[in-house]
Amino acid sequence: MDFKTLLSSWYTINARSLPWRETSDPYKIWVSEVILQQTRVAQGTAYYHRFISKFPTVKHLANAHEDDVLKVWQGLGYYTRARNLLAAAKYIENELNGRFPNTYQELLKLKGVGQYSAGAIASFVFKEPVPAIDGNVYRIIARIFGVFDSPYTSQGKAVFRKVVVELMNKSAPDQFNQALLDFGALQCVPRSPNCSICPFVHYCYAYKNNLVDILPTKAKKIKTRNRHFTYLLIRHGDYTFISKRKSKDIWKSLYEFPLIETEKPLAAEKLQDDDEWKLLLASSDPEIVYFSPTVKHLLSHQVIMARFVIVNITKTTKGLLDRFKKVHTSSIDSYTIPTLIDNFLAAEPAEKYFLNPPTP
Ligand code: ADE
Repeated sequence: MDFKTLLSSWYTINARSLPWRETSDPYKIWVSEVILQQTRVAQGTAYYHRFISKFPTVKHLANAHEDDVLKVWQGLGYYTRARNLLAAAKYIENELNGRFPNTYQELLKLKGVGQYSAGAIASFVFKEPVPAIDGNVYRIIARIFGVFDSPYTSQGKAVFRKVVVELMNKSAPDQFNQALLDFGALQCVPRSPNCSICPFVHYCYAYKNNLVDILPTKAKKIKTRNRHFTYLLIRHGDYTFISKRKSKDIWKSLYEFPLIETEKPLAAEKLQDDDEWKLLLASSDPEIVYFSPTVKHLLSHQVIMARFVIVNITKTTKGLLDRFKKVHTSSIDSYTIPTLIDNFLAAEPAEKYFLNPPTP
């Protein structure tokens, strides 16, 4: 039996039942694919339901405020995805008069939609015979057919694409592409796949050559960047100070407390010598009530070593008021904040000293 027939038989028995497979609405499938670009199905499903119930159509999304879109995304990471979804929804509403693009080439014009997502939407919804190649597909093809090219270079990607196009079932591209995704998620998994029950075991190049752990060719290691953050949770009565991250960095458009970022860890006893501290707090009668231990927060290519300092003040300063928004501490929940901060606020010291400080 050929590849597509074996794959199709496997899929008939093993297909996962997933909410975005119950619909042919391109908007919903687009949202699911953007979520699943960098998130596992197990985590992504709840976010998918929440997103669709809050923004049921492209029109609802196009009319939404960025802060509300980010709030639904909070905790999912890679927040550019949410901002791109909003920009693309506005483009569809305003430039395309609400008509959802219905070809691979047109889908590629949406912000945040690359070859994989365009292929997924075009094949799942419009049955266009185009591949949808993600990490699962690279792994399956590299192993079964012994492709040693790197999935991380454009030449390598082109090699894989050619192989998949030849293998594809052009009369059922939706099923073929979905079957590959499930096969990669359930059978041909990254580590220790159970090859004894694999339908391809007899012609899998990697299995026969003992290369299952070697293929696909791995990415060059990207150096991780270490950063040192000191967050100032400043209390002025029931109020505190936050600002929206503006720069082209992690967490763009999310809210955070005043941040002192340093090249090296900032020692507790050096904090009050820091220029940023002086600018914000020197003339405010600051009283440090809590200094957290260092928290290690991992992102894909960054390690953030963070400390949280809770400071009571009796006077505000120009430095603070010029750069930060003064908000009631109980309203923090309504802003989109990074998981690092959310975790701290959910933990005991913040409850005790910040959200509900002991009455003197
Ligand atoms: N991963 C990315 N897209 C997916 C989909 N549509 N179904 C299952 N897993 C996926």
